[in-house]
Amino acid sequence: MKNVVVLTGAGVSADSGVPTFRDVDGLWTKYDVNEVCTHEAYLRNRAKVIDFMNMLRSGMKGKQPNAAHYAIRDLEQYYNVTVVTTNIDRLHEMAGSTNILHLHGDLDNLRSERDDNSRLIPLNGAEETLDARHPDTGDLLRPNVVLFQEAVPLIADAEEIVSRADIMIVVGTSLAVYPSAGLTMPLPRGAELYYVDPGEVSSDSQMLLRNMTEHLQGKAAEMVPLLVERLKKRALVK
Ligand code: APR
Repeated sequence: MKNVVVLTGAGVSADSGVPTFRDVDGLWTKYDVNEVCTHEAYLRNRAKVIDFMNMLRSGMKGKQPNAAHYAIRDLEQYYNVTVVTTNIDRLHEMAGSTNILHLHGDLDNLRSERDDNSRLIPLNGAEETLDARHPDTGDLLRPNVVLFQEAVPLIADAEEIVSRADIMIVVGTSLAVYPSAGLTMPLPRGAELYYVDPGEVSSDSQMLLRNMTEHLQGKAAEMVPLLVERLKKRALVK
């Protein structure tokens, strides 16, 4: 089976009613990223960062995967699929994808403030509190989310996966944030690259998408199932 890597951003969850970051109604039009989502903000006022994460968690309640998440799952019957996502929601898991790398962490676990590799502590739907401590080490707990100004520990794994891909599908990301935006770069020459997004390709992203096979310009819930149908048919004939 051929290798497919699907890189997803906030836009894949937009059709599930989850807000994106940089669209006109996106989170960064309502919140100041420097107050709620950077490492400095966490050091300065961790309560504000934790409140923001709790707000995102409560916003996820009742949200369900959409047709794009399910189509990506269905692709697993025909290809070796790895989902690399910057999303911190669990909609790919809920749709049934089995091979998912969360580059920016996830909302549903906490980790030690001091140790990136500490055992993850699941929240199980509860709110994060300010004083919770790690049961193994006694360290304060923090969101298992990569904040701006922090390293992205799984980026090398993701680059390696892309470097072995025959097909890459990039869905619902403005490609504004590095290092994840640079993930099209290790794609082998000759591999196919699809971009699914209702927006135009920005001048900044043009270089990242210069070897693009096709831009499916529309909503993820409509375009991803169409693309997946095409890829499935091809897998059947070959
Ligand atoms: N279907 C597909 N794409 C959509 C849809 C939709 N229904 N609606 C919007 N989009 C696209 C937008 O056109 C845009 O290109 O989703 C993209 C969202 O871009 P951003 O808001 O910048 O989100 P993303 O690229 O995931 O952000 C990357 O930035 O703030 C950080 O850590 C956060 O992981 C996030 C990172």
